[in-house]
Amino acid sequence: MTLERTFSIIKPDATKRNLTGAINKVFEDNGLRIVAQRRIQMSEDQAKKFYEVHAERPFYGELVEFMTSEPVVVQVLEAENAVAKHREVMGATNPEEAADGTVRKLYALSIGENSVHGSDSLENANLEIAQFFKDEEIVG
Ligand code: CDP
Ligand code: MG
Repeated sequence: MTLERTFSIIKPDATKRNLTGAINKVFEDNGLRIVAQRRIQMSEDQAKKFYEVHAERPFYGELVEFMTSEPVVVQVLEAENAVAKHREVMGATNPEEAADGTVRKLYALSIGENSVHGSDSLENANLEIAQFFKDEEIVG
């Protein structure tokens, strides 16, 4: 087994409600190590680029507006099978479908304001990490 890194965002609905620590506790309790973390105000350009894959979806405009509405916390998480583990701990996109104990079940407000982002593949994790972090900022 090899250590993997994934990219995580604590979204505006969560930072606004002071849930950064509570969400980090769920991550850490599940073996995800926070090896880089920064609170930022995402720009419209950054959010558009980050969610480019969803550009044709009906919720894209609202999603970009939401992600720039309040500060977010961008993170790199490390664990064995970090990508899959983080997705499992986050829960389903729609909190109504999320399993008990997951971050989205515990904290998400709606399918849009769903508290966290997590990369969906190792390839995307590497691209997303590179959008927000320099190598020397990640201390494993
Ligand atoms: O975040 P995740 O990978 O679980 O879901 P996605 O399908 O990649 O969608 C990205 C984000 O778009 C979601 O986390 C939601 O914030 C938002 N979204 C939405 O507002 N309405 C939808 N019907 C689907 C997604
Ligand atoms: Mg996704």
